[in-house]
Amino acid sequence: MEMESRDGGSVFAHIPKVPEVPLYALQVAYGKDPSPLKLNLGFGVYRTEDGKPFILNVVRRVERLLVNDMSNFKEYLPITGIAEFNRWSARLILGADSPAIKENRVNTVQCLSGTGSLRIGAEFLAKHYPQHHTVYMSQPTYGNHPNLFSVAGLAIKTYRYYDPGTCGLDFQGMLEDLQSAPSGAIVLLQACAHNPTGVDPTIPQWEQIRQLMRSKGLLPFFDSAYQVCKTAEVASHVESQLKLVIRPMYSNPPIHGAAIAAAILKDRDLYNEWSIEVKAMNDRLISMRQRLFDALCDKGTPGDWSHITKHVGMFTFSGLNPAQVAFMTKEYHIYMPSDGRINMAGLGPKTVPHLVDAIHAAVTTLCLN
Ligand SMILES: Cc1ncc(COP(=O)(O)O)c(C=O)c1O
Repeated sequence: MEMESRDGGSVFAHIPKVPEVPLYALQVAYGKDPSPLKLNLGFGVYRTEDGKPFILNVVRRVERLLVNDMSNFKEYLPITGIAEFNRWSARLILGADSPAIKENRVNTVQCLSGTGSLRIGAEFLAKHYPQHHTVYMSQPTYGNHPNLFSVAGLAIKTYRYYDPGTCGLDFQGMLEDLQSAPSGAIVLLQACAHNPTGVDPTIPQWEQIRQLMRSKGLLPFFDSAYQVCKTAEVASHVESQLKLVIRPMYSNPPIHGAAIAAAILKDRDLYNEWSIEVKAMNDRLISMRQRLFDALCDKGTPGDWSHITKHVGMFTFSGLNPAQVAFMTKEYHIYMPSDGRINMAGLGPKTVPHLVDAIHAAVTTLCLN
């Protein structure tokens, strides 16, 4: 598209160039690095031990079944997506015995990815939650959270979450900050495997958070794409309004991924196969944590690295500072965000020694924090 202004220049000539989003810039730099030693621990994606992208066998199998099923269609979906996908996803998250599901108080909407789901939720709150237009989010949080809630028109505040001293949860700080948040404020919580820290509250801590939030009348917003309502009637009203948020944004969601997920979730054998594969993925992450921790201890790398085995999910906030990360990228071709977050799924048995050499050199050359 080429458009000219009256003076013959481009109508877009005034637009300033902005820097690349840091995590994507990292990906580009990794792609250009010719070193055979290069290691990508940036994006939060699951990989095989050899660092290759990974697709579950059960997903491949169901995908083939769907492709060969001639009764399959690619028509527009309803605005809220595939009903079966929504029903089975809610069961997966809330449990089959959930009273909220039995009483039809759950509203589930198939959106476009995690980001798209959050964006729909944020728009919905901005439009229909006049009580409070401030969202409290953990410090730190997933890098895109502040952007997507603020473009929806909500104000952003933070609550303490990560304690750099212990590389664990600053539970006291979190409770104090939630205690002093105004009644009715929205609190963004991550259900598990907190991004970017890998630090989750324990079950008893969650219970304390729940009690505090309830007593203060704070609105929990979990990083997932549905709301649980108090009555079936409210749930149906909410759904009608969610459709009005979605319709002018992208009209209706794509069919392919949700059809695969629905086929797996509703079939007992496929579901079992999926659970086994997911467990294997999780086991691999845990074993990588142990390997990395053991290797750092064996090498005598200064510092306490026990948080690596305590953190959960894909991420570990390593405790490395931006200068140390930059050093590791320059000298060892290791790519990770400057906050020191490591994607454990990017590691394999063959690459752990290289990472340990890099951390050791970084920590001994440039003092830890
Ligand atoms: C906590 C959290 N929320 C949302 C997202 C976005 O999910 P998606 O990549 O599916 O848009 C991510 C992705 O990294 C995430 O870690």
